[in-house]
Amino acid sequence: MIDIDILKEEFKRRFGRDGIAYVAPGRINLIGEHTDYNGGFVFPGAVEQSIALVISPNGNDMVNAYAVDLQLAASFSVNDTEGPSDVNMRYVYGVVREIIASGIAVEGFDVVYGGDVPLGAGMSSSAALECCFAYALNDFFGGGRLDRMTLAKIGQATEHKYVGVMCGIMDQFASMHGRKGSLMRLDCRSGEYEYYPWHPDGYRLVLVNSCVKHELVGSPYNDRRRSCERVASMAGVETLRDCTWEQLEELRPRLSDEDYRRACYVLGEKDRVLAVCDALQRDDYETVGKQMYLTHEGLAKDYEVSCVEIDFLVDKARQLGVTGSRIMGGGFGGCTINLMKDSLYDSFCSEARQSYKDRFDVECQIIPVVIGDGARKL
Ligand code: GLA
Repeated sequence: MIDIDILKEEFKRRFGRDGIAYVAPGRINLIGEHTDYNGGFVFPGAVEQSIALVISPNGNDMVNAYAVDLQLAASFSVNDTEGPSDVNMRYVYGVVREIIASGIAVEGFDVVYGGDVPLGAGMSSSAALECCFAYALNDFFGGGRLDRMTLAKIGQATEHKYVGVMCGIMDQFASMHGRKGSLMRLDCRSGEYEYYPWHPDGYRLVLVNSCVKHELVGSPYNDRRRSCERVASMAGVETLRDCTWEQLEELRPRLSDEDYRRACYVLGEKDRVLAVCDALQRDDYETVGKQMYLTHEGLAKDYEVSCVEIDFLVDKARQLGVTGSRIMGGGFGGCTINLMKDSLYDSFCSEARQSYKDRFDVECQIIPVVIGDGARKL
């Protein structure tokens, strides 16, 4: 759990007064990976791991920010049109500029922030950071006038315009809308969503962080998105959500093998999300788990966003009798998400840890999933 007192003390030490605290969480995603920017469904939940900040206005036009975990300080004017070059500070700067663009008069402020969402683990530490700032600035300078979906879009626009990752809306949506004990099914085309209470009797969700840092900035993530957009436009539809298997097969001779396989993954994932929703109605976790393994296969072989360490963890999970396991989030490292029987948990932890250490000489990190609330004032 994040220790807010540390942030408050640091704020007082640096700026000589007290500030107000806000928090926004990272997320998990049960199923529906790389479907958000294809207009499809996702199934995320907010987690307890969060980013928090302590803020107070300073009466001028400067933002003075200090990132506790990175021991990184930066200052920029709210009117600066270039912003800092450090990528971590560009998240802060981007949110400030996007909030201003939405019509809120942001004034100068001092801020200290930090958190416990592991960086590069596929748990959306960057969305947590964006959402924490977006929520705080809207509350502080805008009297809370922007709604949560608008704030999520401000976070997403920050990634697009200031960091260069052409992400979908899932992470920021989850960080803004999370609810303790519930997963959410979001239709990324219409923006409609539903809460699904998550109390899987006899089962639990566990993350395993491979500690291979996933880095979406300047990464092949954007290439995947471009492939999907190319196929959608050739099929004459807005997104792959509206492309059928028949249309894809018709197009096949005109597609590169890579684009074809990527589109196959996305179409398959659409079907899997629906199968999971259906299975959840019946509390059929064995089917949910099977679909998770199938998602991993698609992400590894067709979408090509896995890596040897993650494939090893998924194979190990299967050998140990875990109900479902797959890479989670954007890919290229980070965490696996595992659905397992409660009774398996202890032996899974020790065997996964030991075998990973033997194979890669790296300690993996086991993270039990606790579904928490979305962005809020503390
Ligand atoms: C990253 C992006 C999300 C989503 C996932 C993959 O987390 O930020 O928008 O595309 O990857 O599902």
